[in-house]
Amino acid sequence: MSTTKEKQIKKSEDIDWIEVNKKIDKYISEVESESDALIEVLHKVQSLLGYIPKRTQKRIAKELELAPGKISSVMSFYSHFSAKPKGKYQIAICKGTACYVKGSVDIIEKVEEVYDLNSGDTTDDGIFSLEVVRCLGACGLAPVMTVNGKAHGLLNPDKAVKILEKYKNGEM
Ligand code: FES
Repeated sequence: MSTTKEKQIKKSEDIDWIEVNKKIDKYISEVESESDALIEVLHKVQSLLGYIPKRTQKRIAKELELAPGKISSVMSFYSHFSAKPKGKYQIAICKGTACYVKGSVDIIEKVEEVYDLNSGDTTDDGIFSLEVVRCLGACGLAPVMTVNGKAHGLLNPDKAVKILEKYKNGEM
């Protein structure tokens, strides 16, 4: 099981875009194989910023002479890539079969309601982002959610919110 990671994602207004653009140009110039260029550059930008903003997608498309639609289709295929900044705590709640039959939908609805959050979104304060996923590989603990990769199992809606409050209050 992985340990909790706290990612610091910079907001768009805090980013030095001149520096970022220089790095993107460098990534593009270093690409070895044209066929892997897009994925390689997307990975590097995702690691650099924690997400791939629209303006950066446009720049990459221009530099690699690709249609902007090509970038969004690749990004939507690989869940690792995100167009929006993720929260400090990234929640994944499983809706796979084992979790579904043990009530994960109630947990999802509760988390969405308490934090005014939909799957794929981040709270306005940047604390949480939520993804609803299919099987986290811990079916014996169903229903399961992970927070920054750390699994929490045998949940119910109230238990899930109590755990998330602990993260929010810096107690986990
Ligand atoms: S179905 Fe939820 S962890 Fe496997």
